[in-house]
Amino acid sequence: MRVFTGISELRTPFKRFENAALAVQEGRVAWVGREDALPEPYRSRSKYDLGGRGVVPGLVDSHTHLVWAGDRLEEYAQRARGASYAEILAAGGGIHATTRATRAANEDELLALARKRARSFLKTGVTTLEVKSGYGLEPEHELKMLRVVRRLTEAEPQRFAPTLLAHVVPSGWNRDSYVEMWVRELIPEVARTGLANALDVFVDREAFTLAEAERLWQAALEHGLDIKAHAEQLTHTGAARLVAELGGLSADHLERATPPDWAALAKHGTVGTLLPGAALLLRQPFPGARAMWDAGVTVAVASDHNPGSSPFYNLWLALQLAVALGRLTLEEALQAGTAHAARALARPQLGRLEPGSAADFVVVDSPHALEPLYRWGETPVHAVYVAGKPALAESPP
Ligand code: NIG
Ligand code: FE
Repeated sequence: MRVFTGISELRTPFKRFENAALAVQEGRVAWVGREDALPEPYRSRSKYDLGGRGVVPGLVDSHTHLVWAGDRLEEYAQRARGASYAEILAAGGGIHATTRATRAANEDELLALARKRARSFLKTGVTTLEVKSGYGLEPEHELKMLRVVRRLTEAEPQRFAPTLLAHVVPSGWNRDSYVEMWVRELIPEVARTGLANALDVFVDREAFTLAEAERLWQAALEHGLDIKAHAEQLTHTGAARLVAELGGLSADHLERATPPDWAALAKHGTVGTLLPGAALLLRQPFPGARAMWDAGVTVAVASDHNPGSSPFYNLWLALQLAVALGRLTLEEALQAGTAHAARALARPQLGRLEPGSAADFVVVDSPHALEPLYRWGETPVHAVYVAGKPALAESPP
């Protein structure tokens, strides 16, 4: 048992306590509240004084493509000169370029690259990351990517949620045969080995059609996997609505989603995940965060870390953009990057500091718990805890 005191402000994220204390037992929150209300037996335990700092739940980044090799700096420069993402993709660059580099890398190389990125996220307080495959395309390379995610879990202090991603149809394949291969071989294999918990499908012009996605999602559901979508990003396809109707965990991107799409997400309890990095860098309309929230959607915000559309290494930046451009309040932004994101991963015990929740939290280097949303370009983090244990090497006990 550990009792943390000296917390000037704690956000659960749904409640706010001043002069708070947090008791942790076996990696979970045992008690949280005002320090002067700390009950026995916690009162008599030795305390860890956090020095008058703020505490928020560990951030949950519910949409990343953390495992990749190569880089797309040249493409980034081309896009800055006016080239479009879709044109580059159609010409065999973009996702295809990262696929070539990722296929050429072995598991150890990919692991080393992904570990470095995971450490960057940890330093800013991200304690859980969803990580997608999708740069292998051929089964052996998709499975290789998912094995890297499994090894990340062993190598790093964070929690990782692996997702199988049907990204694009690789060259050399007939579309129908490719989808059939996923349905008959890859999805069953991933479900059998437990290498991923969910299937995500990128539904868009250069990716999969809605009919193909439906076939893939049905196969995933039959094998007990959850489903997700890259939906309504570059064109409107109906993917958000369909994945909601099928009971999907989340529909992500949503730059081109419409009010009926939001209504479907709200009705079915499918999380709407916004990815400000991709929206801005691909010069798409900024997703209607405020309107979506007001329509009853559980809104999450994620980094979409990837080498092409969103080279983001800091989830706070995505949350800041959701405040500045999406018109979320600071409290809502924190919920979007913690408890709501955890829902998009079917891990409701994460992203909140309530009795029974995982004791994953960030000690903010300020008396104000929301200071990281206010400070742009620098994230004030003093310490990060996962399951009640310090996760940064330099963290105090
Ligand atoms: O979420 N939209 C498709 N997939 C990724 C981008 C992947 C890439 O460009 O490498 C995304 O934006
Ligand atoms: Fe993505």
